[in-house]
Amino acid sequence: MPFVVKIIVNLPDFKLERYFAKYEFTTEYLLCSSDCESMPIADLLAMEEGAAEKLQNVWLGYTESQGSLTLRKEICNLYETTQPEDILVHTGAGEAIFLFMFAAFKEYDHVIVHSPGYQSLAEVARAAGCDVSPWRAREENNWALDMDELRPLLRSNTMAIIINTPHNPTGYLMSRADYDALHQFAKENELLLFSDEVYRESEYDPAARLPAACDLGDHAISLGVTSKTYGLAGLRIGWVATKNKKVYDSMAALKDYTTICNSAPSEFLAEVAMRNRQKLVARNLDIIRRNLNIMEDFFSRHTDLFSWVRPRAGSMAFPRYLAGDVESFCDKVVREAGVLLLPGSVYDDTDNHFRLGLGRKNLPQAVNRLEEYLGK
Ligand SMILES: Cc1ncc(COP(=O)(O)O)c(C=O)c1O
Repeated sequence: MPFVVKIIVNLPDFKLERYFAKYEFTTEYLLCSSDCESMPIADLLAMEEGAAEKLQNVWLGYTESQGSLTLRKEICNLYETTQPEDILVHTGAGEAIFLFMFAAFKEYDHVIVHSPGYQSLAEVARAAGCDVSPWRAREENNWALDMDELRPLLRSNTMAIIINTPHNPTGYLMSRADYDALHQFAKENELLLFSDEVYRESEYDPAARLPAACDLGDHAISLGVTSKTYGLAGLRIGWVATKNKKVYDSMAALKDYTTICNSAPSEFLAEVAMRNRQKLVARNLDIIRRNLNIMEDFFSRHTDLFSWVRPRAGSMAFPRYLAGDVESFCDKVVREAGVLLLPGSVYDDTDNHFRLGLGRKNLPQAVNRLEEYLGK
């Protein structure tokens, strides 16, 4: 069997996805979703005059492999200096992560990965043959990464640093000073910096938003998607933005073996979404802010059961359960109360954390149900 095929076959289970597969479509309240509240197609189309008619005329042939020019132009509005030819559109961010790792790395390369984190950011690198060193986020530092802990991780065969900020699952947002230092470090050591920015634009204080990595040099690759901040996961439209032609071309060549090109209706709808993204962001941040207040009150009523670090961005937090084993707690809550929480073990966390989702409209009802259960 060829090396790459063998490795793909040998990928371990994606723990988070397997957990969701058991409960996502059968549980009444999802209190751990990473994406923001979605909407029907009609609501999205209503944001733009004429969009509903235009959708009827979308041509259902193959689309341009790199993504339509009009969509790539809209995506460029997220960035300062990045051009449409620097954008490669994918089927979700998941495909982009997969193709990046196989395009950029070979057996025995070494990469440094933000940890804990979204499993594929480390797992696919490992499957591509890399040795992976975790760069650990510390709860005692509000889930921050420590630049002093990065330097000793560097090896002669280190190829890349992979980060995710705003972060799944902690809601950590890197400081501007650390972000600048990280880019400097990557450039000085000729490393790629893969920056998973799928929760960008969901910062609670817009002034704290970091520049997109792709605008800071050709060492960097930014990952984006319509799923999270914009709440449109069903479109399955993600992208990388990079001025690194070598990485771009290798990913484009690999894409011929996966999806070839993207769904035409999804590209059209993603273009409408990106043109109207300020409205989507405002709506979803309103939901998150209201939910944060509810959670703050909830945690202050249950200091014996939970502790938490309030997130600074995004649609998640990673509280700690203090009254026993978190896996059995989550298991009981889903089976007996119909409320889904995600145990930290799916992130290989061993400190009793669980993921809480903040981006859904029905959080107040889900929290009521949870509280009723806790009162029993
Ligand atoms: C940090 C991070 N990156 C990438 C993805 C993948 O996004 P999508 O499922 O839209 O492909 C997710 C999804 O949860 C994520 O949290």
